[in-house]
Amino acid sequence: MSVLFSPLDIGPVRAPNRIAIAPMCQYSANDGCASDWHIHQLMSYAMSGAGVVTLEATGVLREGRISHGCLGLYSDECEYALARALQAARSVAMADTKFSIQLCHAGRKGSTHKNWDGGGSLKAPEGAWTTCAPSPIPYAPDWHVPQEMSEEEIERAIKAYAQAAARAARIGFDMIELHAAHGYLIHQFHSPVSNKRTDAWGGDAQKRLRFPNAVAEAVRAATPAHMAIGARITGTDYLEDGLTVDDAVEMARGFKARGFDYVCVSSGNIIAGGRPASGPGFNVPNAAKVRAEAGIVTRTAGFIADAKQAEEIVAERGVDQVALARAFLDDPRWGWHAAEKLGVTLQLPKQFNRVAPKVWPGVKLARPS
Ligand SMILES: Cc1cc2nc3c(=O)[nH]c(=O)nc-3n(C[C@H](O)[C@H](O)[C@H](O)COP(=O)(O)O)c2cc1C
Repeated sequence: MSVLFSPLDIGPVRAPNRIAIAPMCQYSANDGCASDWHIHQLMSYAMSGAGVVTLEATGVLREGRISHGCLGLYSDECEYALARALQAARSVAMADTKFSIQLCHAGRKGSTHKNWDGGGSLKAPEGAWTTCAPSPIPYAPDWHVPQEMSEEEIERAIKAYAQAAARAARIGFDMIELHAAHGYLIHQFHSPVSNKRTDAWGGDAQKRLRFPNAVAEAVRAATPAHMAIGARITGTDYLEDGLTVDDAVEMARGFKARGFDYVCVSSGNIIAGGRPASGPGFNVPNAAKVRAEAGIVTRTAGFIADAKQAEEIVAERGVDQVALARAFLDDPRWGWHAAEKLGVTLQLPKQFNRVAPKVWPGVKLARPS
């Protein structure tokens, strides 16, 4: 019996298995609006065999995007385009596939080039915008110096997360994931490396959690009870003066108390180059500790690519769910191939009936009558 392919209850949502596709920026949106590229990606992932498909970091404000190519959910146009993409994906999705969207404000990591243009800050002629953050400290010496957020700007950002969550609910997503990791705005408030404020939004660990918790409350309040909400959090900043796994446990407890259903434990990137070289499943120990101490459904990600490795993580390493990014980018049928390796029968779309057994002798397929 495969644990990886057993269902998982994430609050009110039952995922058909423990495989999630991790959010992956595609830098292919038009003023925040999903393009045909997103439709293609989402339709492809809808029939990948993953139980949860998570859409990329999506800006809750136009200036909260990472790049000009990043997805947004700050206008009716964005909402309409995403609704069209989700509708297309649902029309081909394998049974019970759940769709999630990651909500993000990039803060000081915004106004950058698309990844394939080398990342790094935009120049004025390239359409740079003014970035903001808890404190006026750049992500790296050659990046924009962000403006320290005023009380009004903080309240506006919190409201924007809630408005985007309400849009995601209207579109029909099953789940929402707050991006509270990888050096983006929520992480910037949480980490002592990037938050040097001396007012009520900075200082000790509790004060640095004020913004993350306020966003969590606003998002939960804006989201209907049938949707699951979670957050991608930081297991460690890998810095002496940075966040540790104990901070992750505290954050997970706080989110759980505010009605969150899961956390995904990742790590690093509060500063440029802030993640040392890492090996297979490197976030698993921190995720297991968060799950054990905060008692919340816990997902992890990072260098998980092999079916047996994924099975072992959920069966024996104290984590509920795995999220894979590059493995699905490389092979959008990863779930099918994992099922084959683990001897699991999957109900594939019937259009694939004739090709699958020929390509993979030994794969067990349930044929629709
Ligand atoms: C192309 C690409 C885009 C990514 N975009 C996001 C993103 O939007 N949000 C996020 O939290 N992580 C993002 N990540 C990180 C992945 O979600 C994942 O955590 C990381 O790649 C490690 O998992 P992997 O080893 O399975 O690829 C991205 C990774 C890749 C490769």
